Amino acid sequence: MSEVTAIAHPNFALIKYWGKEDTISNKPAMSSISLTVDSLISTTNISINKGSAENIWMLNEKEQNDLARINPVLKYLNNISKNNNGCIIKSENNFPTSAGLASSASGIASLVIAYDQLFKLDMQFDQLVEASMIGSGSAPRSLLSGFVILNVEDQVTSQTILEPEEWPLSIIICITDEKEKIISSREGMEISRNTSPLYQSWLDSNKKDIQIAKSAIIEKNFRRLGEVAERNCYLMHEVMRTSSPKISYMTESTNKCIKEINTIRDDGTDLFFTIDAGPQVKIICKPDDKDLIKTNFSNKPYVTKIVEANIGLGARVIYEG
Ligand code: PMV
Repeated sequence: MSEVTAIAHPNFALIKYWGKEDTISNKPAMSSISLTVDSLISTTNISINKGSAENIWMLNEKEQNDLARINPVLKYLNNISKNNNGCIIKSENNFPTSAGLASSASGIASLVIAYDQLFKLDMQFDQLVEASMIGSGSAPRSLLSGFVILNVEDQVTSQTILEPEEWPLSIIICITDEKEKIISSREGMEISRNTSPLYQSWLDSNKKDIQIAKSAIIEKNFRRLGEVAERNCYLMHEVMRTSSPKISYMTESTNKCIKEINTIRDDGTDLFFTIDAGPQVKIICKPDDKDLIKTNFSNKPYVTKIVEANIGLGARVIYEG
């Protein structure tokens, strides 16, 4: 086999992690729960750079000079495969990169799955988790389908709580700005861990939020899941805001989206939102309500694009040649 292509979807955290326990293994300091998002796709093709130890990474057809995110992942994988050659990696996203849409999670998850197949490693799931975590703390969640928990107590483990078809919710993404973020999540998390006076209480609140969200998902209790997800999201952004320097991914457009969401909710439609390290607003709703919500946002000048999605599958190989 000389090349493999794999795909993975980003995942949006409902209970978020913001802060690392260890910056080398990249282990998150807290557990998280996410949903995998089907219509956004990272596609990664990998082949061996025969006769050279150099890794080459093309992202959206542009050769990357900074391989700091993927080299440690490849080093971990090369250790297992005993490969001494470099790899040629071509990744593409069908959505804005580094704009708070979790492109690093899907990019890394697709890379790890493609590598595993190219070298026929048949890696244990725990190893796939460890390898992807080195590239992005949220990437292990993109290995799996549906509602996913990444548990970091003791050993890091990742599991699907519910499959997409078990609770088929809809996701509406309000894109407000496609620009790449200025402060990476990795940098931002370190700043918050070292400087935010709220960091410790953020860490302490994680266990309870995980418990509430996990049981709400198992019971398919939409309102309870929405309440805990929004509270958790607000607290993460408050931790960012109280960091020094202050970190702010939410913009005026983000706030206008939240206001509109609250109005729709007050008018009797169930929906909730989450926002990550970027200004985009991700709305979760029941499939029957998605058209009404989309119509509400379709004429808003602060929303540049609306993307629709369902809950998706985990990372998988799509081509071997
Ligand atoms: O691990 P990263 O670099 O993909 O950071 C993820 C950070 C958040 O999206 C804000 C939270 C999360 O749990 O996904």
